[in-house]
Amino acid sequence: MRLSSLLQVAAFPFLGSALLERSPTVFDLSEAKWTLSSSIYNISVPGSVPSQAHLDLYSAGVIPDPYFGLGDFDLRWVAETNWTYSTVLEKLYTGKDTTTWLLFNGLDTFTSIKLCGQQVATTNNQFRQYYFDVTSYLGACSGKPSLDINFGSAVNITADIANEPGQETWPNAVEGLFEFPNRQFMRKEQSDFGWDWGPGFAPAGIWRPAYVIQVPSSGFYIRNALLDIHRQGQLNNLPPDQNQPWIVNASLDVIGSVPLTFPSGATLTIEIMDMNNSTLASGNMENVTTTKTSITGSITIEGETCQLWWPHGLGPQNLYYFKISVVNGKDVLASVTKRTGFRTIVLNMTPISEEQLAQGIAPGNNWHFEINGHEFYAKGSNFIPPDAFWPRVTQKRIEQLFQSVIDGNQNMLRVWASGAYSPDFIYDIADEMGILLWSEFEFGDALYPVDGPFLENVREEAEYNVRRVNHHPSLALWAGGNELENLELLLAEAADPGNPKWQEEYEQLFLGVLLPAVYGNTKSISYIPSSTTNGYLELNFSLPIPMIERYNNLTPGSIYGDTDHYDYDSTVAFDLSSYPVGRFANEFGFHSMPSLQTWQQAVSPDELYFNSSTIQLRNHHYPAGGTFTDNYATSSKGMAEMTLAAERYYPVPHHVDPIANFSDWCHTTQIFQADFYRSQITYYRRGSGLPERQLGSLYWQLEDIWQAPTWAGIEYDGRWKVLHYISKDIYQPIIIASYWDYSTGNLTAYVTSDLWSTAAGSATLTWYGYNGSVLAPASTVPFTVGALNTTQVFTGNTSTLPFSLKDAVLKMNISATGILPNTQERREFKHEFYFHDLDLSKVNLVDPGLEMSYSKDTGNFTVEAKTGVAAWVWLDIPAGTLANFNENAFWLVPGDDPREISVTVKQDQSDGNWVEGVTVRSLWDNTLS
Ligand SMILES: *[C@@H]1O[C@H](CO)[C@@H](O)[C@H](O)[C@H]1NC(C)=O
Ligand SMILES: *[C@@H]1O[C@H](CO)[C@@H](O)[C@H](O)[C@H]1NC(C)=O
Ligand SMILES: *[C@@H]1O[C@H](CO)[C@@H](O)[C@H](O)[C@H]1NC(C)=O
Ligand SMILES: *[C@@H]1O[C@H](CO)[C@@H](O)[C@H](O)[C@H]1NC(C)=O
Ligand SMILES: *[C@@H]1O[C@H](CO)[C@@H](O)[C@H](O)[C@H]1NC(C)=O
Ligand SMILES: *[C@@H]1O[C@H](CO)[C@@H](O)[C@H](O)[C@H]1NC(C)=O
Repeated sequence: MRLSSLLQVAAFPFLGSALLERSPTVFDLSEAKWTLSSSIYNISVPGSVPSQAHLDLYSAGVIPDPYFGLGDFDLRWVAETNWTYSTVLEKLYTGKDTTTWLLFNGLDTFTSIKLCGQQVATTNNQFRQYYFDVTSYLGACSGKPSLDINFGSAVNITADIANEPGQETWPNAVEGLFEFPNRQFMRKEQSDFGWDWGPGFAPAGIWRPAYVIQVPSSGFYIRNALLDIHRQGQLNNLPPDQNQPWIVNASLDVIGSVPLTFPSGATLTIEIMDMNNSTLASGNMENVTTTKTSITGSITIEGETCQLWWPHGLGPQNLYYFKISVVNGKDVLASVTKRTGFRTIVLNMTPISEEQLAQGIAPGNNWHFEINGHEFYAKGSNFIPPDAFWPRVTQKRIEQLFQSVIDGNQNMLRVWASGAYSPDFIYDIADEMGILLWSEFEFGDALYPVDGPFLENVREEAEYNVRRVNHHPSLALWAGGNELENLELLLAEAADPGNPKWQEEYEQLFLGVLLPAVYGNTKSISYIPSSTTNGYLELNFSLPIPMIERYNNLTPGSIYGDTDHYDYDSTVAFDLSSYPVGRFANEFGFHSMPSLQTWQQAVSPDELYFNSSTIQLRNHHYPAGGTFTDNYATSSKGMAEMTLAAERYYPVPHHVDPIANFSDWCHTTQIFQADFYRSQITYYRRGSGLPERQLGSLYWQLEDIWQAPTWAGIEYDGRWKVLHYISKDIYQPIIIASYWDYSTGNLTAYVTSDLWSTAAGSATLTWYGYNGSVLAPASTVPFTVGALNTTQVFTGNTSTLPFSLKDAVLKMNISATGILPNTQERREFKHEFYFHDLDLSKVNLVDPGLEMSYSKDTGNFTVEAKTGVAAWVWLDIPAGTLANFNENAFWLVPGDDPREISVTVKQDQSDGNWVEGVTVRSLWDNTLS
């Protein structure tokens, strides 16, 4: 049958009237009393679920705050210890005709599970859902059943696996090595063994909810559910026909005995509700099939029953509840409700068409996303694990972080491979806020084993997670892993030329196992094997493996894939010709120090100076191939890069007060970072109107996992670095930016728009001296800029200027009107941008005479520059308050209207007194002693 309108089908009168004896009983093991113990250390403390050993040991006072000082080194003994979580199952139903199951949504990672002292199972995958029928063990139990879960040390066990006779090895340096080696042998968060932005704690524990489920003999329990909503005829990775009806495919994974009597005796029903739980449509699903552990059916939805879901900035986030029930006569055997949305999202990698060539697009392949059939510019960043200990990542923390994503004008995050698959609550928040989540399987910066048990383990992990999250409209893509085709495979092939083994093994895992896990479960989501990739040579659904990779099969003059760019030589940071030309930038960046306020959370006061040993050792940006053990000497690599960049481009602080000096040094590294990212983001965005037709910028990285020098734009507690303000500015829909070829002196300015229709306005360009004098009359240029396009508004050469760049800045601003996608009214867009000599330590900065005031009435701050150009004006919020301004890190010229700055407070422990502690500075302050 077909669902078409709310008038046509009434809700089932019997929904909700489940017969009690059919319903499983669910005991939430987070409510049980747990003990965490280690016999070797004679430790026994209260434990919790979900949790990890470090967190419970910290709560019990056995270890200090793992995040303080050198905790990740000092607490290695915790990672090298086996830990046991134990409880007693107090209130089980012991009647006959019931099967009892243990259900774990996440065990981290190598466990041995015992019930009443009897061995039930072992597990070795953090990312799988495990469930065990323990009915017979309970029967043999005397007294109350005890449950003991021993977590073996992942550090030791992976070393043992690596040393097994005949175990696979890879050429030197193919495995990106940080704190602990051998991570490619475990299906555990790869960054648990350290990363260049994070600590290596290798935690262990029941990290996701766990349950005891008692299922009556004729009933069953839904442990996971897949919902796939796609256009009829849609195939993965290909743009669908938007005029086709929607197909909903639902598949329930169950524990218990599936009624195998479909379709005669029982059926699968669907009810679609709005956010007020009003039924819009309902009916029976078709083509119902069952296996021993799943029930699957589908239905066609005609017409416009529901409104589309759009990412932030491109339209509304319409959401609906889908209730899927298994109904037998008048009995509801089981049902599940998922909140979902209607959208198509495709990563289009098809060949460039004749029509596109005629628009000036270079030949090769597309590499961009399309939402509901529309190309759009993906603006965002890379999301890493927000904490080394997932159980303390709360909904509130993610809401605050994602609010910063929205406030930062981002619409997409790449959820980096090698952390953990995001829990549903993260996707839920992204669904609500309109943040697309490019999701990845947890493989990165290594090549992996391909023996049968390993591949089977990965297949289970992938099937579970693909099915678990597919209903979220925020899910944008599945990628096999991080930096594989553009890095690890090339390293292996360079070390072992001509050996086909590396590519064959790569394809066994990433095309042979992961691609079918996606294509076999969903038609709505695209797949790429590697986060950075030149795409496919051929996509042919009649082949056993439909995708044939392009690798380096390139034609000169053609452009194919996405790009990943890191260059720690800051001499070329603003050399535009050093940036990659591609269709999409999925990673690029440079590290900076966190603020003083953040350092104070993790480092003792006597260590608050730039190269103190704790601060150096929290910088994990080691030389390639290095590890911590040989890096007491070389961990300064990352420190040196930041120092050199700060010295190269800015006056550096030399304050007498050591803390003020440290604080300003930290801040100066943030200015360089932000400026470097802005230079790349403006370059990539302008590419939307150049032959590369560049349609995405996701910088590395959104946020921090701890307090350390990293690539993040948001510090561990949510504080915005300079970068997050700059990316917010440069991710606005219509921007102006300059592009300087400093070897020839050629200087241009372009206006770039990612609106979906033409916008028009004018650009005003004015040269100022640093003392605020106008050096040349302002020129105003009218422009129109096409949809997802760019237009040049200025061209000149700095070698022919009648003044020196040491004395001059070019202020550019635009005012334009345009229409936001999926809205009706025209609105005004403004943006400003300053061009200046690269080396601000050599320009003739003057005291800008900055003045700041605060208005209790408006709650706003006002800032003015009275006596000179103020570079990088920065309002600083004192420790203890989480707040952000609507703008920061801007420039001011004397005579500009006073800049009114609003503020959003997210958390405050000062009773509002933080306002008194706000300070303002500019680059001029670096020149003061
Ligand atoms: C793990 O290895 C370390 C170093 O060899 C050793 O000290 C420790 O006892 C081992 N832990 C376990 C649980 O075997
Ligand atoms: C630690 O746990 C692992 C995995 O369960 C086991 O093989 C090993 O024997 C245990 N070691 C100790 C010292 O308990
Ligand atoms: C809709 O129903 C769900 C439970 O099925 C409930 O949690 C939610 O509060 C309801 N929403 C409204 C708006 O009534
Ligand atoms: C059910 O199966 C039939 C026969 O294969 C097919 O024509 C129909 O489209 C299927 N219905 C749905 C909703 O997929
Ligand atoms: C961008 O605008 C230029 C100038 O109007 C036009 O020639 C070009 O085809 C546009 N590019 C795209 C991809 O629409
Ligand atoms: C600099 O600009 C001039 C004028 O637009 C142009 O002719 C010249 O080719 C440019 N030089 C370079 C190296 O881009």
